[in-house]
Amino acid sequence: MAKDVIIACDFPDAETTYDFLKRFKDRKPFVKIGMELFYSEGPDIVRKIKALGHKVFVDLKLHDIPNTVRGGMRSLSSLGADMVNVHASGGSAMMEAAVEGLTAGCGHERPILIAVTVLTSTDAARLRDEILVGETLEKTVDSYAALAARSGLDGVVCSPLEAKRVKSVCGESFLTVTPGIRFADGNSDDQKRIATPEFARENGSDYIVVGRAVTGAADPVAAYERCIAGFIG
Ligand code: C5P
Repeated sequence: MAKDVIIACDFPDAETTYDFLKRFKDRKPFVKIGMELFYSEGPDIVRKIKALGHKVFVDLKLHDIPNTVRGGMRSLSSLGADMVNVHASGGSAMMEAAVEGLTAGCGHERPILIAVTVLTSTDAARLRDEILVGETLEKTVDSYAALAARSGLDGVVCSPLEAKRVKSVCGESFLTVTPGIRFADGNSDDQKRIATPEFARENGSDYIVVGRAVTGAADPVAAYERCIAGFIG
């Protein structure tokens, strides 16, 4: 499986997104469409960006009762996305329902299905004091990853800091998709568990997800190339 850099297109509308993607000319980066763009433009934005030749990760982080997630995934499966996700904290029944819905709705190859473990904007203090999880952050990530693997998912979203341990718990082929990427000379913004593209490569991430370090750069194409150079070489 090829490692790749996924650009988080956290833009308010389609026009801004197309203007951004045009800067890459014939290069077709793997892009992530999250809540901001999906909620403003609707599902058609996924089909349109796919038609431009990009791979698309639809990052809606489903988290609801199993029946609702099964139906939501059945609907998402018709969009032709390459990757979709749920929250592992929804539990095994919800994740199994997500696999069922995605498989049932797919006339084509099923998209990669991954589970968010602990958001990269959450640190140990918030996990303990606000979310009231008594285990350490590392143990929580390990446990959610193992649950996702047992539920039939293909991988998890975690911090690059945790990619190696997730692989040691769930196996080398279990995917680690890692946001929280920053250059050594960049801002952390609202992210807490961050790492550079180089660190993510050394620690075994399969995909890095990069938003503001690319979209907010003076030269986004150069910033993307810097991610590719650091992560893939
Ligand atoms: O701008 P930045 O690189 O921080 O963006 C990270 C992207 O990855 C955002 O679109 C965010 O929604 C997403 N994400 C994350 N942490 C997770 C899952 C997804 O930051 N655990």
